Amino acid sequence: MIRDGLAERGVEAELFDLRRYTRGELPAADEPLCLWIGSPVYAQHPVPYCAAFIKALGAPEGSWCAPFVAWGGVSTGVALEELGQAALDAGYNLAGGARVLCAHSNLWREADRPHDDRPNAQDKALLAELAGTVVERIEVGEPCDIESMRQRIPVVLEASAQMSMDKMRTMIPKPELDAAACIGCGLCAEECPAAAITLEGEPPLPHIGPACVRCRGCVRVCPEGAFLADMSGAPKHLASLIERFQEPAETTIY
Ligand SMILES: Cc1cc2nc3c(=O)[nH]c(=O)nc-3n(C[C@H](O)[C@H](O)[C@H](O)COP(=O)(O)O)c2cc1C
Ligand code: SF4
Ligand code: SF4
Repeated sequence: MIRDGLAERGVEAELFDLRRYTRGELPAADEPLCLWIGSPVYAQHPVPYCAAFIKALGAPEGSWCAPFVAWGGVSTGVALEELGQAALDAGYNLAGGARVLCAHSNLWREADRPHDDRPNAQDKALLAELAGTVVERIEVGEPCDIESMRQRIPVVLEASAQMSMDKMRTMIPKPELDAAACIGCGLCAEECPAAAITLEGEPPLPHIGPACVRCRGCVRVCPEGAFLADMSGAPKHLASLIERFQEPAETTIY
């Protein structure tokens, strides 16, 4: 979506899958660049490897960053401002940002999942607009103010301060392996965004390490249904959070 918006303005973007970073690869950043970096909102925050990537990549002088987050209609927490702050700390100028409404990945088993059609055409148009704004800000040399991206809903701020990836890891168990069902194909390890899965033993079986961010990607991708996660409580729990946070379910650009 963003690439299309940039292409309309004659700007070519290069895609870098962050899974390459979590597996140890870092692209060269020798010249000024504009880094678009996206994170899902997990438990009110960005995933840890996104901010780590910004820091590891560094910012050649004169570089810009446009962070964006994908959220599931519960709350964007403080994810966008944390990514923006990571970019400022690394030495980037802030070029803009976005909170993009998506379907909630924890509800993938639900037939009537809210926001199943998001991001929709309107969201895509907003992201294309953001691409134009970012290009203009860079051309005139006027950065975006991080203040505009701050979370302002008090109850969300309170919840974000009390929640973290580490705390979520204590609340949500890792997916469990049904070893008898596993055929050792390794697809889960390839797909894992956090490089948290290693195949060990003979026959090789996947083991989930401490880097797991509880995305349940391994549960969804396994062709044998060998990774198990009890998601039965998710719809009710998320509905109560939506009721509590009252964050308007929309895509916003800055
Ligand atoms: C472990 C976990 C925690 C999540 N926490 C939030 C949250 O705090 N607020 C929210 O709106 N969505 C939350 N989501 C939904 C994702 O942000 C949303 O689905 C987004 O599109 C990322 O999808 P992905 O998990 O497919 O990368 C969470 C999803 C997962 C798996
Ligand atoms: S994708 Fe499923 S079958 Fe393949 S290694 Fe992972 S758990 Fe086993
Ligand atoms: S839930 Fe599975 S795919 Fe997601 S981070 Fe953990 S091990 Fe990786």
